Amino acid sequence: MSKIVTIERFILENQPAHARGTFTNLLYDIALAAKIIATKTNRAGLSDILGRAGNVNVQGEHQQKLDVFADDLIRRVCDHTGRLCVMASEEREDIIEIPEQFEKGSYVLVYDPLDGSSNIDVNVSIGTIFGVYRCIDKANRGRLEDVLQPARDLVAAGYVLFGASTMLVYSTGDGVHGFTLDIELGEFLLSHPHMILPEKPTYFSVNSAYYQRWSPANQRYMRWLQGGEPDSPPLSARYIGSLVADFHRNLLRGGVFFYPTEANKPRGKLRLLYEAGPLAFLIDRAGGYASDGCTPILDIDPTELHQRVPLYIGNTDLVRRAEQLLQEEEMVAA
Ligand code: AHG
Ligand code: MN
Ligand code: MN
Repeated sequence: MSKIVTIERFILENQPAHARGTFTNLLYDIALAAKIIATKTNRAGLSDILGRAGNVNVQGEHQQKLDVFADDLIRRVCDHTGRLCVMASEEREDIIEIPEQFEKGSYVLVYDPLDGSSNIDVNVSIGTIFGVYRCIDKANRGRLEDVLQPARDLVAAGYVLFGASTMLVYSTGDGVHGFTLDIELGEFLLSHPHMILPEKPTYFSVNSAYYQRWSPANQRYMRWLQGGEPDSPPLSARYIGSLVADFHRNLLRGGVFFYPTEANKPRGKLRLLYEAGPLAFLIDRAGGYASDGCTPILDIDPTELHQRVPLYIGNTDLVRRAEQLLQEEEMVAA
Protein backbone atom coordinates (compact mmCIF):
# COMPACT_ATOMS: atom_id res chain seq x y z
CA MET A 1 0.00 0.00 0.00
CA SER A 2 1.64 3.24 -1.13
CA LYS A 3 1.95 5.95 1.49
CA ILE A 4 -0.98 8.32 1.92
CA VAL A 5 0.04 11.93 1.20
CA THR A 6 -2.45 14.78 1.30
CA ILE A 7 -1.96 17.77 -1.00
CA GLU A 8 -1.43 19.97 2.03
CA ARG A 9 1.44 17.81 3.27
CA PHE A 10 2.89 17.44 -0.23
CA ILE A 11 2.87 21.20 -0.80
CA LEU A 12 4.46 21.84 2.59
CA GLU A 13 7.16 19.19 2.11
CA ASN A 14 7.95 20.27 -1.45
CA GLN A 15 8.09 24.00 -1.05
CA PRO A 16 11.53 25.39 -0.41
CA ALA A 17 11.72 26.74 3.13
CA HIS A 18 11.52 30.34 1.90
CA ALA A 19 8.17 29.75 0.18
CA ARG A 20 6.49 27.91 3.04
CA GLY A 21 4.23 30.77 4.02
CA THR A 22 2.03 32.76 1.73
CA PHE A 23 2.65 30.75 -1.42
CA THR A 24 1.92 27.43 0.27
CA ASN A 25 -1.25 28.83 1.78
CA LEU A 26 -2.33 30.18 -1.62
CA LEU A 27 -2.12 26.65 -3.04
CA TYR A 28 -4.24 25.43 -0.09
CA ASP A 29 -6.81 28.12 -0.91
CA ILE A 30 -7.01 26.90 -4.51
CA ALA A 31 -7.43 23.30 -3.32
CA LEU A 32 -10.25 24.46 -1.03
CA ALA A 33 -11.99 26.29 -3.89
CA ALA A 34 -11.62 23.13 -6.00
CA LYS A 35 -13.36 21.02 -3.33
CA ILE A 36 -16.25 23.46 -3.09
CA ILE A 37 -16.73 23.63 -6.87
CA ALA A 38 -16.52 19.82 -6.97
CA THR A 39 -19.42 19.51 -4.53
CA LYS A 40 -21.52 21.78 -6.75
CA THR A 41 -20.44 20.02 -9.94
CA ASN A 42 -21.19 16.55 -8.56
CA ARG A 43 -24.66 17.72 -7.60
CA ALA A 44 -25.22 19.86 -10.71
CA GLY A 45 -28.02 17.63 -11.90
CA LEU A 46 -29.76 17.78 -8.52
CA SER A 47 -29.52 21.43 -7.55
CA ASP A 48 -30.42 24.48 -9.52
CA ILE A 49 -26.90 24.95 -10.90
CA LEU A 50 -27.45 23.82 -14.49
CA GLY A 51 -28.23 25.95 -17.45
CA ARG A 52 -27.59 29.50 -18.49
CA ALA A 53 -27.17 32.30 -16.00
CA GLY A 54 -28.97 34.62 -18.38
CA ASN A 55 -26.07 36.92 -19.21
CA VAL A 56 -23.23 37.12 -21.74
CA ASN A 57 -19.62 37.44 -20.52
CA VAL A 58 -16.74 39.53 -21.79
CA GLN A 59 -15.94 36.70 -24.23
CA GLY A 60 -19.37 37.17 -25.80
CA GLU A 61 -20.38 33.73 -24.51
CA HIS A 62 -23.57 32.84 -22.65
CA GLN A 63 -22.50 32.35 -19.03
CA GLN A 64 -23.59 29.10 -17.42
CA LYS A 65 -24.70 29.18 -13.80
CA LEU A 66 -21.69 27.06 -12.86
CA ASP A 67 -19.39 29.57 -14.64
CA VAL A 68 -20.75 32.32 -12.45
CA PHE A 69 -20.71 30.19 -9.30
CA ALA A 70 -17.10 29.04 -9.83
CA ASP A 71 -15.90 32.51 -10.76
CA ASP A 72 -17.48 34.10 -7.71
CA LEU A 73 -16.38 31.28 -5.40
CA ILE A 74 -12.69 31.55 -6.33
CA ARG A 75 -12.81 35.31 -5.81
CA ARG A 76 -14.47 34.97 -2.39
CA VAL A 77 -12.00 32.29 -1.24
CA CYS A 78 -8.99 34.34 -2.31
CA ASP A 79 -9.70 38.06 -2.10
CA HIS A 80 -9.29 38.62 1.67
CA THR A 81 -6.35 36.34 2.57
CA GLY A 82 -3.59 38.91 2.14
CA ARG A 83 -1.79 36.58 -0.28
CA LEU A 84 -2.76 38.31 -3.53
CA CYS A 85 -2.26 41.78 -4.94
CA VAL A 86 -4.69 41.27 -7.84
CA MET A 87 -6.69 38.57 -9.68
CA ALA A 88 -7.95 38.19 -13.24
CA SER A 89 -10.68 35.85 -14.45
CA GLU A 90 -11.68 34.73 -17.93
CA GLU A 91 -15.24 35.64 -16.92
CA ARG A 92 -14.55 39.26 -15.91
CA GLU A 93 -13.89 42.24 -18.13
CA ASP A 94 -11.36 43.90 -15.84
CA ILE A 95 -8.81 42.86 -13.23
CA ILE A 96 -10.21 41.92 -9.80
CA GLU A 97 -8.70 44.32 -7.28
CA ILE A 98 -8.17 43.29 -3.67
CA PRO A 99 -10.67 45.34 -1.59
CA GLU A 100 -9.02 48.21 0.29
CA GLN A 101 -9.92 46.76 3.70
CA PHE A 102 -7.79 43.69 3.04
CA GLU A 103 -4.00 43.51 3.15
CA LYS A 104 -2.26 43.39 -0.25
CA GLY A 105 -0.24 40.24 -0.91
CA SER A 106 2.64 39.47 -3.25
CA TYR A 107 1.04 37.07 -5.75
CA VAL A 108 -1.26 37.33 -8.77
CA LEU A 109 -3.92 34.72 -9.53
CA VAL A 110 -5.26 34.28 -13.07
CA TYR A 111 -7.97 31.71 -13.70
CA ASP A 112 -10.52 30.17 -16.00
CA PRO A 113 -13.11 29.31 -13.36
CA LEU A 114 -14.99 26.80 -15.45
CA ASP A 115 -13.45 25.34 -18.60
CA GLY A 116 -15.65 23.37 -20.97
CA SER A 117 -18.89 25.21 -20.15
CA SER A 118 -20.67 23.69 -23.13
CA ASN A 119 -20.28 20.30 -21.43
CA ILE A 120 -21.78 21.20 -18.03
CA ASP A 121 -25.37 20.26 -18.85
CA VAL A 122 -24.46 17.00 -20.58
CA ASN A 123 -22.44 15.52 -17.70
CA VAL A 124 -19.11 15.55 -19.53
CA SER A 125 -15.84 16.39 -17.74
CA ILE A 126 -15.16 20.09 -17.11
CA GLY A 127 -12.41 21.89 -15.25
CA THR A 128 -10.79 24.96 -13.72
CA ILE A 129 -7.40 26.32 -14.85
CA PHE A 130 -5.17 28.62 -12.77
CA GLY A 131 -1.82 30.38 -12.87
CA VAL A 132 0.15 32.22 -10.18
CA TYR A 133 2.63 35.05 -10.79
CA ARG A 134 4.58 37.26 -8.42
CA CYS A 135 3.39 40.87 -8.24
CA ILE A 136 5.73 43.13 -10.16
CA ASP A 137 4.87 46.47 -8.61
CA LYS A 138 5.45 46.19 -4.85
CA ALA A 139 4.59 49.85 -4.22
CA ASN A 140 1.00 49.95 -5.49
CA ARG A 141 -2.15 47.89 -5.13
CA GLY A 142 -2.21 45.27 -7.92
CA ARG A 143 -2.57 46.62 -11.41
CA LEU A 144 -3.00 45.41 -15.00
CA GLU A 145 0.80 45.33 -15.40
CA ASP A 146 0.99 42.71 -12.65
CA VAL A 147 -1.35 40.45 -14.63
CA LEU A 148 0.08 40.89 -18.14
CA GLN A 149 3.10 38.62 -17.62
CA PRO A 150 4.43 35.88 -19.94
CA ALA A 151 3.73 32.30 -18.84
CA ARG A 152 7.48 31.74 -18.46
CA ASP A 153 7.22 33.96 -15.33
CA LEU A 154 4.55 31.81 -13.70
CA VAL A 155 5.55 30.52 -10.24
CA ALA A 156 2.77 27.92 -10.30
CA ALA A 157 0.08 26.63 -12.63
CA GLY A 158 -2.47 23.87 -12.52
CA TYR A 159 -5.94 22.66 -13.19
CA VAL A 160 -8.80 20.86 -11.52
CA LEU A 161 -10.61 18.22 -13.56
CA PHE A 162 -14.18 17.44 -12.53
CA GLY A 163 -14.61 14.05 -14.16
CA ALA A 164 -15.27 10.46 -13.08
CA SER A 165 -13.11 11.56 -10.16
CA THR A 166 -12.00 15.06 -9.24
CA MET A 167 -8.28 15.65 -9.74
CA LEU A 168 -6.02 18.58 -9.03
CA VAL A 169 -2.81 18.70 -11.09
CA TYR A 170 -0.23 21.41 -10.45
CA SER A 171 3.40 22.38 -10.76
CA THR A 172 5.52 24.98 -8.99
CA GLY A 173 8.25 24.37 -11.53
CA ASP A 174 9.70 21.19 -10.05
CA GLY A 175 7.67 18.40 -11.66
CA VAL A 176 3.94 18.02 -12.29
CA HIS A 177 1.94 16.25 -9.59
CA GLY A 178 -1.62 14.91 -9.59
CA PHE A 179 -3.97 14.50 -6.65
CA THR A 180 -7.32 12.71 -6.56
CA LEU A 181 -10.13 13.90 -4.29
CA ASP A 182 -11.22 11.31 -1.72
CA ILE A 183 -14.76 12.54 -1.24
CA GLU A 184 -15.28 10.70 2.05
CA LEU A 185 -12.19 12.32 3.58
CA GLY A 186 -12.62 15.60 1.66
CA GLU A 187 -8.88 15.42 0.96
CA PHE A 188 -6.87 15.54 -2.24
CA LEU A 189 -4.49 12.55 -2.01
CA LEU A 190 -1.31 12.20 -4.10
CA SER A 191 -2.15 9.76 -6.90
CA HIS A 192 0.10 10.81 -9.80
CA PRO A 193 3.52 12.01 -8.57
CA HIS A 194 5.99 13.39 -11.15
CA MET A 195 3.75 13.19 -14.23
CA ILE A 196 5.87 12.96 -17.40
CA LEU A 197 4.48 13.09 -20.95
CA PRO A 198 4.91 9.61 -22.55
CA GLU A 199 7.57 9.50 -25.29
CA LYS A 200 5.17 7.74 -27.69
CA PRO A 201 2.03 9.80 -28.41
CA THR A 202 -1.36 8.10 -28.67
CA TYR A 203 -3.90 10.79 -29.64
CA PHE A 204 -4.46 13.94 -31.59
CA SER A 205 -7.26 16.21 -30.39
CA VAL A 206 -8.98 18.89 -32.47
CA ASN A 207 -12.48 19.95 -33.51
CA SER A 208 -12.33 18.60 -37.06
CA ALA A 209 -15.72 20.17 -37.87
CA TYR A 210 -13.80 23.40 -38.59
CA TYR A 211 -11.44 21.77 -41.15
CA GLN A 212 -12.85 23.76 -44.07
CA ARG A 213 -12.11 27.05 -42.25
CA TRP A 214 -8.41 26.29 -41.71
CA SER A 215 -5.42 27.42 -43.76
CA PRO A 216 -3.86 24.83 -46.13
CA ALA A 217 -0.98 24.29 -43.66
CA ASN A 218 -3.39 23.39 -40.83
CA GLN A 219 -5.36 21.14 -43.19
CA ARG A 220 -2.13 19.40 -44.18
CA TYR A 221 -1.16 19.08 -40.52
CA MET A 222 -4.52 17.37 -39.85
CA ARG A 223 -3.99 14.95 -42.76
CA TRP A 224 -0.46 14.19 -41.44
CA LEU A 225 -1.89 13.41 -38.02
CA GLN A 226 -4.50 11.18 -39.69
CA GLY A 227 -1.76 9.04 -41.24
CA GLY A 228 -1.84 10.64 -44.68
CA GLU A 229 1.91 10.86 -45.15
CA PRO A 230 4.76 8.31 -45.09
CA ASP A 231 6.20 9.79 -41.89
CA SER A 232 2.82 10.15 -40.15
CA PRO A 233 2.78 8.97 -36.50
CA PRO A 234 0.26 6.19 -35.68
CA LEU A 235 -2.39 8.10 -33.70
CA SER A 236 -6.03 7.81 -32.70
CA ALA A 237 -8.40 10.77 -32.28
CA ARG A 238 -10.20 12.07 -29.20
CA TYR A 239 -11.94 15.41 -28.73
CA ILE A 240 -13.93 16.12 -25.56
CA GLY A 241 -14.57 19.84 -26.01
CA SER A 242 -13.19 20.65 -22.55
CA LEU A 243 -9.57 21.73 -22.94
CA VAL A 244 -8.65 20.54 -19.44
CA ALA A 245 -9.98 17.04 -20.13
CA ASP A 246 -8.30 16.80 -23.55
CA PHE A 247 -5.05 18.13 -22.04
CA HIS A 248 -5.17 15.73 -19.08
CA ARG A 249 -5.75 12.67 -21.30
CA ASN A 250 -2.85 13.67 -23.54
CA LEU A 251 -0.60 14.30 -20.52
CA LEU A 252 -1.26 10.73 -19.39
CA ARG A 253 -1.23 9.02 -22.81
CA GLY A 254 0.83 11.33 -25.02
CA GLY A 255 -0.49 13.32 -27.95
CA VAL A 256 -1.22 16.77 -29.31
CA PHE A 257 -4.18 19.12 -28.88
CA PHE A 258 -4.59 22.00 -31.26
CA TYR A 259 -7.01 24.85 -31.79
CA PRO A 260 -5.77 26.76 -34.86
CA THR A 261 -6.84 30.08 -36.33
CA GLU A 262 -9.87 30.09 -38.62
CA ALA A 263 -11.16 32.57 -41.15
CA ASN A 264 -13.52 34.05 -38.52
CA LYS A 265 -11.14 33.46 -35.58
CA PRO A 266 -7.89 35.18 -36.64
CA ARG A 267 -6.35 34.61 -33.18
CA GLY A 268 -8.01 31.25 -32.54
CA LYS A 269 -10.41 30.80 -29.61
CA LEU A 270 -8.38 29.95 -26.51
CA ARG A 271 -7.24 32.57 -24.02
CA LEU A 272 -3.52 33.15 -23.41
CA LEU A 273 -3.67 34.15 -19.75
CA TYR A 274 -6.30 31.72 -18.45
CA GLU A 275 -5.86 28.62 -20.67
CA ALA A 276 -2.81 28.46 -22.95
CA GLY A 277 -0.28 30.01 -20.55
CA PRO A 278 -0.85 27.84 -17.47
CA LEU A 279 -1.10 24.65 -19.56
CA ALA A 280 2.06 25.61 -21.47
CA PHE A 281 3.87 25.90 -18.11
CA LEU A 282 2.62 22.43 -17.11
CA ILE A 283 3.44 20.69 -20.41
CA ASP A 284 6.92 22.25 -20.35
CA ARG A 285 7.48 20.86 -16.83
CA ALA A 286 6.19 17.46 -18.01
CA GLY A 287 8.61 17.29 -20.96
CA GLY A 288 6.37 18.59 -23.78
CA TYR A 289 5.91 21.88 -25.66
CA ALA A 290 3.25 24.48 -26.45
CA SER A 291 3.27 26.95 -29.33
CA ASP A 292 0.94 29.38 -31.10
CA GLY A 293 2.26 27.83 -34.30
CA CYS A 294 5.24 30.14 -34.46
CA THR A 295 6.29 31.21 -30.93
CA PRO A 296 6.53 29.23 -27.67
CA ILE A 297 3.43 30.10 -25.62
CA LEU A 298 5.75 30.62 -22.64
CA ASP A 299 7.44 33.53 -24.41
CA ILE A 300 4.37 35.46 -25.56
CA ASP A 301 4.07 38.80 -23.77
CA PRO A 302 0.36 39.44 -23.16
CA THR A 303 -0.85 42.86 -24.28
CA GLU A 304 -4.52 42.43 -23.38
CA LEU A 305 -6.38 40.76 -20.53
CA HIS A 306 -8.47 38.51 -22.82
CA GLN A 307 -6.00 37.96 -25.62
CA ARG A 308 -6.64 34.81 -27.63
CA VAL A 309 -3.94 32.61 -29.18
CA PRO A 310 -3.86 29.65 -31.55
CA LEU A 311 -2.69 26.65 -29.47
CA TYR A 312 -0.67 23.53 -30.36
CA ILE A 313 0.26 21.64 -27.16
CA GLY A 314 1.63 18.18 -26.34
CA ASN A 315 4.54 16.01 -27.52
CA THR A 316 7.30 18.29 -28.76
CA ASP A 317 7.85 16.63 -32.15
CA LEU A 318 4.13 16.75 -32.96
CA VAL A 319 3.96 20.47 -32.13
CA ARG A 320 7.20 21.20 -33.99
CA ARG A 321 5.71 19.59 -37.13
CA ALA A 322 2.84 22.08 -37.00
CA GLU A 323 5.32 24.95 -36.66
CA GLN A 324 7.30 23.63 -39.63
CA LEU A 325 4.21 23.42 -41.89
CA LEU A 326 3.02 26.87 -40.81
CA GLN A 327 6.48 28.34 -41.37
CA GLU A 328 6.60 26.86 -44.88
CA GLU A 329 3.18 28.40 -45.55
CA GLU A 330 4.47 31.76 -44.29
CA MET A 331 7.48 31.62 -46.61
CA VAL A 332 5.35 30.72 -49.64
CA ALA A 333 2.93 33.55 -48.81
CA ALA A 334 5.79 36.07 -48.31
P1 AHG B 1 -14.59 27.75 -21.75
O1 AHG B 1 -15.71 26.86 -21.38
O2 AHG B 1 -13.75 28.17 -20.56
O3 AHG B 1 -15.05 28.90 -22.61
O4 AHG B 1 -13.57 26.91 -22.64
C1 AHG B 1 -14.05 26.19 -23.71
C2 AHG B 1 -12.90 25.97 -24.66
C3 AHG B 1 -12.07 24.75 -24.31
O5 AHG B 1 -12.38 24.18 -23.07
C4 AHG B 1 -12.38 23.77 -25.43
O6 AHG B 1 -11.22 23.10 -25.83
C5 AHG B 1 -12.89 24.66 -26.54
O7 AHG B 1 -13.47 25.80 -25.93
C6 AHG B 1 -13.94 23.96 -27.35
O8 AHG B 1 -14.25 24.85 -28.41
P2 AHG B 1 -15.13 24.32 -29.65
O9 AHG B 1 -16.49 24.05 -29.09
O10 AHG B 1 -15.08 25.45 -30.64
O11 AHG B 1 -14.46 23.07 -30.16
MN1 MN C 1 -11.78 27.57 -20.93
MN1 MN D 1 -14.29 29.19 -18.87
